[in-house]
Amino acid sequence: MNFADFYQQSIDNPQTFWAKEAERIDWHKPYNEVLDYSHPPFAKWFVGGETNLCHNAVDRWLKTQSDQPALIAISTETGSEKVYSFAELHREVQRTAAIMQSLGVVKGDRVLIYMPMIAEAAFAMLACARIGAIHSVVFGGFASNSLATRIEDAKPKLIVSVDAGSRNQKRVPYKPLLDAAIELSSHKPRHVLLVDRGLHEMSRVAGRDVDYAQARQHHMDAQVPITWLASDDVSYILYTSGTTGKPKGVQRDVGGHAVALASSMKHIYCGNPGETYFSTSDIGWVVGHSYIVYGPLIAGMATIMYEGLPIYPDAGIWWSIVEKYKVTRMFTAPTAVRVLKKHPTKLMHKYDLSSLKTLYLAGEPLDETTSDWIATALGVPVIDNYWQTETGWPILTIAKGIEDLPTKLGSPGIPVYGYKVKIINESTGDLCGANEKGVVVIEGPLPPGCMQTVYGNDDRFVKTYWTRNNGTLVYSTFDWGIRDEDGYYFILGRTDDVINVAGHRLGTREIEESISSHAQVSEVAVVGVEDKLKGQVAVAFAILKNTALIDTEDKRAAMEKEIMTVVDKHLGSLARPARIHFVTMLPKTRSGKLLRRGLQAICEGRDPGDLTTIEDPASLDQIRAVLKE
Ligand code: PRX
Repeated sequence: MNFADFYQQSIDNPQTFWAKEAERIDWHKPYNEVLDYSHPPFAKWFVGGETNLCHNAVDRWLKTQSDQPALIAISTETGSEKVYSFAELHREVQRTAAIMQSLGVVKGDRVLIYMPMIAEAAFAMLACARIGAIHSVVFGGFASNSLATRIEDAKPKLIVSVDAGSRNQKRVPYKPLLDAAIELSSHKPRHVLLVDRGLHEMSRVAGRDVDYAQARQHHMDAQVPITWLASDDVSYILYTSGTTGKPKGVQRDVGGHAVALASSMKHIYCGNPGETYFSTSDIGWVVGHSYIVYGPLIAGMATIMYEGLPIYPDAGIWWSIVEKYKVTRMFTAPTAVRVLKKHPTKLMHKYDLSSLKTLYLAGEPLDETTSDWIATALGVPVIDNYWQTETGWPILTIAKGIEDLPTKLGSPGIPVYGYKVKIINESTGDLCGANEKGVVVIEGPLPPGCMQTVYGNDDRFVKTYWTRNNGTLVYSTFDWGIRDEDGYYFILGRTDDVINVAGHRLGTREIEESISSHAQVSEVAVVGVEDKLKGQVAVAFAILKNTALIDTEDKRAAMEKEIMTVVDKHLGSLARPARIHFVTMLPKTRSGKLLRRGLQAICEGRDPGDLTTIEDPASLDQIRAVLKE
């Protein structure tokens, strides 16, 4: 079909359009209304219907392909590799679900999952989905403060975790960070379920901590029936950064979510049952939720969970996996490709990559050089896709499953069906013309699969994301963009204080709060600065209470390191600024507002723009001077 017609149907007649897409999943009870938008901007999809994500991802495939691979867990960190068929996955998920039930977890309870990329993490997510518990996965790279904020907000009855992860062959203990986070949080989970990988010693709290392997022994033959859920029940919460220091719990439903994933797996990722999908993201991020765990399995595909670096034992590792498991669709981030680009392509060409049909890239802007290099090296189409934790599936791309439209270098493509994407002027709200820069917004209602609300805070959802624009409610993506005369969009970075480091979304405010907690720091500003490899890195400018502490180069370097360690401990090393510069004043307006965009521009060697409101221009000279050091 022609994509323009397909798209138009989704906009003109969403009820009929989505009713058809809803046939891609199993419903326990049919819905009686496709969409209820009577309380905008809250959209309820498939009202009255009952379904279950675990049923659609696992049980549904038992009839036709129970012995085929479902989950392939590979770790080059521990040298392990294990393939679970749909039948085996079904058994493991039921065991985990039974353990959770034995620990008192019931429908609606929150279960926080703080785990590396191991099979048990997927079992835990699917087990929650099976019994109607709401999972909240926290990225394993986050440290105790980030974890504590999430425990505090989600109030989990149970936390599932491990002794340790591993990165670049170094063991990374999880348990001490988890214990510290529970200590920091006023909410205490009733139990902590621990997978002991034998990687690191761990202490256990009597009565609270439960050993996974031991508990599993009691539930080997567990049969845990599916808990059928209302379409608009909550499936999960995933915290993401925004303008404030407090991450938002993006809350997703069950029915709309399942339909959106099934639909995108068909039309965008072109996956077929029995094939293998390889997404290199992490379960701690939205790509891991949508396109490692749920999406591929809902499409009846085998999915690969990979723990390790893209370049260990060498830069051929991913391609060896593609060959071995006949991967047809692969999904990664531009940063990973930039890392691979530094290595000889012969490491890629050693392997038979003939199974691979398409490579999908998302999470950060895709530059032309990276895109060209990988497309040529692999000899398959490279499809960029733009979306967010909030939407859960692509907003802009080329839906090859509908029509093989041409791609344009530097553009993720055109609006995906279901999304009424617009570009509006930041101050007037007027629609921008072709090639005119503005804010990328989406007219409500958002399509199925997008966030229902901010967990526990409807008001924050409305106030953060929605504005009335010439009578229409619009959702802000907080991204700058332009649309060219052919209707292709180009994303030009965030309008808020979110930065994107190697495809990881981080809030500069959280980093600032962490740095400010150092006793000697009186003020700090963190901005995202362009980086050739990682897309962006965080750079901090701090004012110390006592400048004598940094009056020699050695002392300055020691202080910089000390503050970096604070960030590592609080948030995790991925949030650590690349540099901490010390200044005595920050560029601010006369009313005291930090001139963040100007500061960022100077760091990137660009013109800082209109600075007529600046309180003291000397602050800029200082910034320029420290950047030269
Ligand atoms: O700024 C955009 C950027 O990443 C943000 C969303 O990050 P996250 O919530 O982690 O979700 C990632 C889902 C893939 C966006 O607001 N971004 C994401 N994809 C692209 C992108 N920027 C440019 N091109 C993309 N393809």
